[in-house]
Amino acid sequence: MSDILPGRFISLEGGEGTGKSTQAKALSRLLETKGLKVHLTREPGGTPGAETIRELLLTGNDEKWNMRTEALLFAAARSEHCQSLIKPALERGEWVISDRFIDSSRAYQSVSGELDDVQIMSLHQVGSGGLMPDRTFILDIPEKIAAQRANARDRGDSDRIGGRDSEYHQKVMASFRSYATNEPERVHLVDASSSVEEITSKLMQNLSEWLS
Ligand code: TMP
Repeated sequence: MSDILPGRFISLEGGEGTGKSTQAKALSRLLETKGLKVHLTREPGGTPGAETIRELLLTGNDEKWNMRTEALLFAAARSEHCQSLIKPALERGEWVISDRFIDSSRAYQSVSGELDDVQIMSLHQVGSGGLMPDRTFILDIPEKIAAQRANARDRGDSDRIGGRDSEYHQKVMASFRSYATNEPERVHLVDASSSVEEITSKLMQNLSEWLS
């Protein structure tokens, strides 16, 4: 089937503990059963160089990087990821499912107010030619439940960014919701409080226009 359908680029976004990784895996498995070649990947990371940058970004204390450096490092990791994995796969007509992409930078790196959306998008233009997903799913659950899930997963050992306070994470989630409002064609808000299977089925239904 991948010979006749063009490759599609899907990103999953949301706060900590919203189930993105689980859904990314389930979605790529289901798409593969349809005969598609699917690359399941993540950000920051997805290639050896970008995984090295991930390690730099997510370990150590919050003061390790200032917000501009942090935004530049995310853009650098994304540049590697786009150049070495995402763009070549799409050019071959394959699908890419990424657990986080540019909307995470727009949401997380703009909270402090030091950088705005235009600046973050201009870093993306320089690093990755402004590549945007064909569809982005924002997984949305109440912040309290997400925080409980993230705590259970990390067992009190959150990474450098996940460990920021709840006010920060609420602002991040508000930004994600605003992308769904402002860019309704690409960005779809998904209620992620139901079962894993129900959510995956909603995502598949949403993609059905590209699957026949
Ligand atoms: P996770 O994908 O394992 O949840 O961890 C990645 C962390 O990095 C998470 O706290 C969100 C954060 N992040 C950003 O702040 N900006 C970005 O551009 C990306 C991709 C992730």
